Amino acid sequence: MGKLIRNISPAFHWYMQRITAMILVVGLFVHFWVLHFAIERPVTFEKVQDRLLSPGWVFFDVILLIAVIYHAFNGLYNVISDYNPRPALQKIIAWTLIFVGAIIVIYGILALLPFTRQGGV
Ligand code: HEM
Repeated sequence: MGKLIRNISPAFHWYMQRITAMILVVGLFVHFWVLHFAIERPVTFEKVQDRLLSPGWVFFDVILLIAVIYHAFNGLYNVISDYNPRPALQKIIAWTLIFVGAIIVIYGILALLPFTRQGGV
């Protein structure tokens, strides 16, 4: 796994930072519009579940979650790397960010899943 991570070219992360930024521009607009403006008040549990019973919305939420976590954590790693930490420390920081990011993504997906089944929550 360490070798796999080392072999990923920095250019890949450079591109991914921009690709996730584009996903965020569109995704955050749709997210804010649908969930904060277009939805009729009051926002109820049933209205949220109604939306999440459609697989397209679950897919949208999962992609947005992965994009924002990748973008924020890779961005944070870039900021920290600008301060030239010792290689050993940089490695610990990278693995900590990968670990925490993966936990947040898994937790987010697990929190969404019950909504995808009628009467699942
Ligand atoms: C529409 C939303 C967003 C757009 C268009 C966007 C765009 C970008 C772009 C193009 C970069 C690369 C900058 C560079 O390498 O010079 C970047 C870096 C970064 N972004 Fe975003 N971003 C967005 C949202 C977010 C969000 C929501 C977060 C955090 C939760 C975030 C955190 C960061 C961080 C920490 C960096 C690294 C900054 C650096 O390298 O100096 N961004 N963003």
